[in-house]
Amino acid sequence: MQTPKHILAQNNVSPSLTSTINTVLNASKEIALLLQKGAMSGVLGSAEQENVQGETQKKLDVISNDLLKDMLSECPHVAGIASEEEDLPVPANADGEFLVIFDPLDGSSNIDINVTVGTIFSILPSNGNDASQEATYLQSGRNQVCAGYVLYGPSTLLVMTTGQGVDVFTLDPISKEFVLTEAQSKITPSTKEFAINMSNQRFWAEPIQNYVADMLQGEEGPLEKRYNMRWVAAMVADVHRIINRGGIFMYPWDKREPNKPGKLRLMYEGNPMAMLVEQAGGIASNSEMNILDIQPELIHQRVPVILGSKHEVEVALSYYN
Ligand code: AHG
Ligand code: MN
Ligand code: MN
Repeated sequence: MQTPKHILAQNNVSPSLTSTINTVLNASKEIALLLQKGAMSGVLGSAEQENVQGETQKKLDVISNDLLKDMLSECPHVAGIASEEEDLPVPANADGEFLVIFDPLDGSSNIDINVTVGTIFSILPSNGNDASQEATYLQSGRNQVCAGYVLYGPSTLLVMTTGQGVDVFTLDPISKEFVLTEAQSKITPSTKEFAINMSNQRFWAEPIQNYVADMLQGEEGPLEKRYNMRWVAAMVADVHRIINRGGIFMYPWDKREPNKPGKLRLMYEGNPMAMLVEQAGGIASNSEMNILDIQPELIHQRVPVILGSKHEVEVALSYYN
């Protein structure tokens, strides 16, 4: 039986990073427990308040955020945190080496219908900079020393990378340990499955309009394949399906709200997922460049996302040229 600690030790990950990751995992186990108790723990429904991005928060968005924030603030290696649910970065320990950035609960519209949600996390070096300042966090995804997600589905899974491939762990509900269940996961390069919110079609830019139109023509169209579509409405679950059996996931730029280039957030969703996808042999792009190469300008910045199976993403990007 191999736990994350064993794998991190094999990969020569430092004790301080291991301890930081372990703190994230301990918080995620608490979140898993609350989700399993569901209505019995009184955590379902709306928190009747909005986050900085104007989205109505669910009670569990707030509870998950507070669990992660409180536990990470007590970890001596954490200099500061940034969260989708916090207006501003939260400084923690002045001597901490790491910044932990997270989407505490991704896919929160799924909570009340008992469908998969997840926690997405990204760890950056603090480089001794002031963790109360947004600028300290504005590092490209290439600087990530760890990225991962915990998926709360029929099983609770941890999918994680420290830059040495992607490993999948399953939470043993008896021992409460994550156990390695798939080492070095790889995304199949070709696929017949796509994920996009089709209801936004009329707002998309022309390249995505054309690409999706060609996929819908199936084997009779230029792509010569019969495609299938999936949309869980939780990026974490859609990306997990792609890590498992390939596919392409898109939340492209659209013209619904001109000041928001896409729905997903670079720091909390784009960068960690891009690192995982790249480490598993796939590609993650914003349609113009690799997501990991974007220099962030704002902590809550949005990013268009096209990621997944290498060949399929290359085909999608060819529509932009
Ligand atoms: P969050 O619950 O953290 O706000 O993120 C939801 C995101 C993402 O997980 C998902 O892919 C997308 O929003 C779903 O968007 P639609 O509502 O357009 O389906
Ligand atoms: Mn999210
Ligand atoms: Mn969220």
